[in-house]
Amino acid sequence: MPFDVARIRQAHPALAEGYAHFDGAAGTLVAEPVARAVAGVLGGAVSNRTTAFAPGRRALAIVDAARVAAGDLLGADPAGVVFGQSATALVYTVARGLAGTWQPGDNVVVTRLDHDANVRPWVQLASAMGVEVRWAAFDPATGALPFAAFEPLVDARTRVVAVTAASNAIGTVPDVPAIAALAHGFGAVVHVDGVHATAHLPVDVAALGADYYVTSAYKWSGPHLAACVAAPSQWERTAVLKLLPSSDAVPERFELGTPSFELLAGFTAAVDFLATLDDTGTPDDAGTPDDAGVLNDAGTLNDAGTPDGAGVLDGATSRPRRERVLRSMAAVHSYETRLFERLLDGLRSMPAVRVLPAPAGGCPTVSFRIAGEDPATTAARLGDQGICVFSGDYYAAEYFTAMGLRETGGAVRAGIYHYTTADEVDRLLAAL
Ligand SMILES: Cc1ncc(COP(=O)(O)O)c(C=O)c1O
Repeated sequence: MPFDVARIRQAHPALAEGYAHFDGAAGTLVAEPVARAVAGVLGGAVSNRTTAFAPGRRALAIVDAARVAAGDLLGADPAGVVFGQSATALVYTVARGLAGTWQPGDNVVVTRLDHDANVRPWVQLASAMGVEVRWAAFDPATGALPFAAFEPLVDARTRVVAVTAASNAIGTVPDVPAIAALAHGFGAVVHVDGVHATAHLPVDVAALGADYYVTSAYKWSGPHLAACVAAPSQWERTAVLKLLPSSDAVPERFELGTPSFELLAGFTAAVDFLATLDDTGTPDDAGTPDDAGVLNDAGTLNDAGTPDGAGVLDGATSRPRRERVLRSMAAVHSYETRLFERLLDGLRSMPAVRVLPAPAGGCPTVSFRIAGEDPATTAARLGDQGICVFSGDYYAAEYFTAMGLRETGGAVRAGIYHYTTADEVDRLLAAL
């Protein structure tokens, strides 16, 4: 079945500016219904949360709807969805929340493939608690992070295994279910960085074996807001420093201060939008903020301020969205994989281009260097030609250090996203 990229691009009016965006791994453009949902809340009557009057009930409903949306996106319990400013902030929240029970002699396992957000918080807390850090190494020849790298590291004193669901540098998708099963066999907690993976793959946190899974909506057409999901019982075992009058209940107790209702509405709209990406839906059928039950098609607020419109709080309606998300992300995966092969074939055919190795079957993100040109120069040269790519280490600091490239500028990163076209891939290759 063809993937209707033209329809999807129409829903991203910012693409009309003409840039070819290969920078999705650093952040995507938001879909138009997302911008409308955010603006709808900012322009409407939304108070702080209270049941006393409709504007306050709207705020309550926006938060509830966003938890259900995150649950549908990831296969998670909405009662275990914690929102935060960024994935980085949420990993620190979780690491601080777990570290209090660590004892000297314990260990935590991190990887040299991960973004620093799923490395440094664990390393710093381990140091503070006198706990050993064990490093799972990737294979520099293949870019794989094999299960075998974890086997000798995990033991009965392992408290946490922190691993990525997909590398933001080279797209590698480790065998997280196997790694999680190993960790769980020793009673360790598994913290999965899903920031890169969520944009490209159907996600089921239970199938992954993730005790915590973190994602950031700005990587998948949403606003700058992140969510970490875990079972409510896992959150109950997670400590947090909080204000006296604020709720002690899970998940609210981890959300310090007043949440950003506008970004939460945008988060829900982004999940709704992702659910329309396969051929059977249109952005207007299900991708409007109306699904949040708080905003209507015009992006204005309804009176009830409850998620009654689409009934997202009742399982009957949320289940179909979950199914639509899974179907859509499977379609995204196959579309992106085809385009990625075109990009890789083109890059590999250029003798001056060194593609950093990555195993087949990963996310559609590649790092490369051009002989005789430093990566920042390549990125600027492409930028001058209307092509957006990032250069540097993109915070995959351990990866680039291990590859011996960090001191010399890292690499250039190009990623396929579901609004990328074959013409844009050809433009990038021609510009190189
Ligand atoms: C794999 C991965 N993890 C974590 C992060 C950090 O996300 P945030 O910017 O939400 O803190 C990023 C951002 O680039 C990422 O790509």
